Amino acid sequence: MRRGLGRLLMKLFDVYPVNEITIVKAKGSYVWDDKGEQYLDLYGGHAVISIGHTHPHWVKRIEEQLEKIAFYSNSVRIPLQAELAKKLGKVSGKEDYQLFLCNSGAEANENALKLASFHTGRKKVIAFSKSFHGRTSLAAAATDNKNNLSPVNETGNIIFLPFNDEQALEDCFKENGKEISSVIIEGIQGVGGINVATESFLKKIRTLCDEYGAVYIADSVQCGYGRSGKFFSHDFAGVSADIYSMAKGMGNGFPVAGIIASPKFKAKHFMLGSTFGGNHLACAAALAVLEIIEEEKLMGNAVMVGKYLKDELENIPQLKNVRGRGLMIGFDVPEELKDLRKNLLWNQKIFTGESKPTVIRLLPSLALKKRDAEQFIESVQAECEMQKAES
Ligand SMILES: Cc1ncc(COP(=O)(O)O)c(C=O)c1O
Repeated sequence: MRRGLGRLLMKLFDVYPVNEITIVKAKGSYVWDDKGEQYLDLYGGHAVISIGHTHPHWVKRIEEQLEKIAFYSNSVRIPLQAELAKKLGKVSGKEDYQLFLCNSGAEANENALKLASFHTGRKKVIAFSKSFHGRTSLAAAATDNKNNLSPVNETGNIIFLPFNDEQALEDCFKENGKEISSVIIEGIQGVGGINVATESFLKKIRTLCDEYGAVYIADSVQCGYGRSGKFFSHDFAGVSADIYSMAKGMGNGFPVAGIIASPKFKAKHFMLGSTFGGNHLACAAALAVLEIIEEEKLMGNAVMVGKYLKDELENIPQLKNVRGRGLMIGFDVPEELKDLRKNLLWNQKIFTGESKPTVIRLLPSLALKKRDAEQFIESVQAECEMQKAES
């Protein structure tokens, strides 16, 4: 009998609901599918595209690096890592911090939580309602979503508190202060629906962490890298965190992530590590991103275009609770407009994100042009008018 006939081909493990679109080309804030259809991208593939798709400087930097060397492990000196640390210190304003490089947001948070625990010798972590910190181990445990938590991820070490509730935080520290290793918080919750941490809440975290010797971890995986208009959205509170985790926008689509830790953390060999983290290609991509953020003043652009979008969205009567900072914007839509995100995609050819069908998220490139923002507003208005006419 001939082997192979009638055999099944390997399938993908089906973990995501997907849009039936195959993207084959991208440039700036636009992508094209295999049928030549053009889409405006206000989602950036889960907030990843920071400087714009296939930015020529980013492409050149990666191509040039590829011709030299793509990878060697951390057993040798990689001067590009030191170059990246220097540039990151300058652009973020955290020049006295220390950089550790890894590959994804979850891994960055795992390392942040681990470093905090090494430092304090404690086990308990405070996390908040609607948080999202990743899909692995402790990052999954600190995420407020049961679908993401397998029995092996369960731990008694995470204490969940209501987001932005200063009294609950204070009470928790009073009760468990000596056991708390760290507090982990997104400056603006992304997956949870674009919820901004109040400045006074972040200040309170800083004060209580100082008082009880705990570590303040700023999860900046989604809200960082200039998206809010400041390099880290936590910076709006005017206090520094002890550790910042980063990923998404850091490589503009090239997988690279990291944490920066304040000078109070002392590194020891083998406490943290990674095979791929900080490889030559990843550093080249991350450097290109920072160079463009600086050169093209993308944080200023995020403030300007973000303000335009928020103001215009607030003027559309059907939309409620427009929120966010810079180019990290969310708004609620009423039940009758719950297909808005789908309609924007299929009728208007615009990618946006959602937390649930009635919460839309905008996470475009920080280089989004005002005229593209105008096109989006006109499209939302058209969809709202259409819905009104149909009802
Ligand atoms: C705030 C936040 N932290 C961590 C993560 C996990 O990042 P990754 O998917 O790169 O592991 C995400 C991903 O959406 C995120 O939004």
